[in-house]
Amino acid sequence: MPQPWWRSAVFYEIYVRSFADANDDGIGDLPGITSRLEYIRDLGVDAVWLTPFYPSPQKDHGYDVADYFDVNPEYGTLEDFDRLLARAHELRLKVLVDIVPNHTSDQHEWFKAAVTSPDNPFRERYHFADPRPAGMPPNNWTSSFGGAAWSPEPKGPQWYLHLFAPEQPDLNWWHPAVPEEFERIVKFWLDRGADGFRIDVAAALFKRRDLADRPLITDRVTGAARFDSAFGIIDQPQVHAVYRRWRQIANLYQPDRVLVGEIFDPRRHSRYILPDQLHMAFALIHLPWDATLWKRSIDTSRRAMRGPGAEPTWTLANHDVVRPVTRLGGGSTGRARALAALLMLLGLPGQFFLYQGDELGLEEVDLPDDLRQDPVFLHTGGSQKGRDGCRVPLPWHRGRPNAGFSTVAPWLPVPMAWDRLAVDVQAGSGESMLGHLRKALAERKRLAGGLPQGMRWRPAPAGVLAYSRDRMTVACNFLDRAVLLPADGRLLLGSNPLVGVKRGALRLPANSAAWLLA
Ligand code: NOJ
Ligand code: CA
Repeated sequence: MPQPWWRSAVFYEIYVRSFADANDDGIGDLPGITSRLEYIRDLGVDAVWLTPFYPSPQKDHGYDVADYFDVNPEYGTLEDFDRLLARAHELRLKVLVDIVPNHTSDQHEWFKAAVTSPDNPFRERYHFADPRPAGMPPNNWTSSFGGAAWSPEPKGPQWYLHLFAPEQPDLNWWHPAVPEEFERIVKFWLDRGADGFRIDVAAALFKRRDLADRPLITDRVTGAARFDSAFGIIDQPQVHAVYRRWRQIANLYQPDRVLVGEIFDPRRHSRYILPDQLHMAFALIHLPWDATLWKRSIDTSRRAMRGPGAEPTWTLANHDVVRPVTRLGGGSTGRARALAALLMLLGLPGQFFLYQGDELGLEEVDLPDDLRQDPVFLHTGGSQKGRDGCRVPLPWHRGRPNAGFSTVAPWLPVPMAWDRLAVDVQAGSGESMLGHLRKALAERKRLAGGLPQGMRWRPAPAGVLAYSRDRMTVACNFLDRAVLLPADGRLLLGSNPLVGVKRGALRLPANSAAWLLA
């Protein structure tokens, strides 16, 4: 039976604001993306995920949606979206839209109505509550961006819940108008031709109905008081009915439309990734460079899958985490490790998500504080630097202002040093990060279908991981010195020119990976 297109697919995450700028105003936009779709096709991916491009005050760069049925004028128009989609489809690329159901912007019509008077019916679509005595928030929940999860409404007497920034009020999914509205939104984008959705904070929609305080407990290791993580405030069972409904809607369309949940905890995956709910959720590997930890994490993610053929959706990064090159050691070591990690994960059965710029080996940028824009930075008083450093615009052309992103200063500055990492520099070399990734994605495509879904670990020395999928073996050396392994076949790919097979032995230099074919 032919596989649905999304099984084993490779997705490329486009951070819209920073991908490509068509009108040279320093901000990425939809026409910019359309003009660069050949680059993405040539990379060898199957689909793109566009981060939110809706009208938005940009307090959380698009994750604060003011209107779910339109395009932010900074990014273009609905017609620009249609053109992007049409061109992507011509190039055989699928396009996922980011849907943000947990919260709206405080500039969304519903919230603006809600705060006009204490008896406005739209209040019930959010969580409003009376403060506790002495002006304390209604409960002790905290925002992921720092501080209390509640803020006083602008003029009225009550407070409202926001698990993220104060400009992102949480919707009350217990109110029937909310699920109804989101079904309309889902249909709107599917009717326009979108191939599916990445669902923002997918497990968070329903909050516990009693809005009870989280109990404080004493940490057994540190002795310090902390919130009891076993006391769930989100992830209520009612959320599954929402995704069953979305799946029924998606199933009405051909070719297949997909639902990708932003859910990282593998313990949740088995409840969401099901034939009648989500197609996939992220297996993000965000670990120190240690073979034992990586093996454990790969096993945990694979074991979390239920159902025939279900395999994890591997990912190394997204627009919320420190760039892999930096995380894994920075500089040439970090780059070598990041490439080895990519080859190791790309060899596994399952889907893969690549974050824009990781194909170029970009590093996290240490921006001056006065240029930082992330609400995480702003709401923690700078104690957390936030995510701007992984969101810096892409370098396209060596020797042009702002590495070819735009002629004017972009919304975040492109480091001078990125000139030599520009796309046009790397595209010409098979030994560049981009060159290696293109090769890996081409081989992956060539081998697809011929490889079994499963994998099995092979014996390997400490600090090295090796696995096989039928004829293919993948090995990754986490050590800072070279190792020799028995080679089973010929070398298909090596993450650096010193990887080699000689007289039945595979030589893996420090921090490198290889694919072999028997
Ligand atoms: C997850 C998104 O990836 C992140 O960028 C955003 O800040 C939060 N959800 C809130 O929407
Ligand atoms: Ca622009």
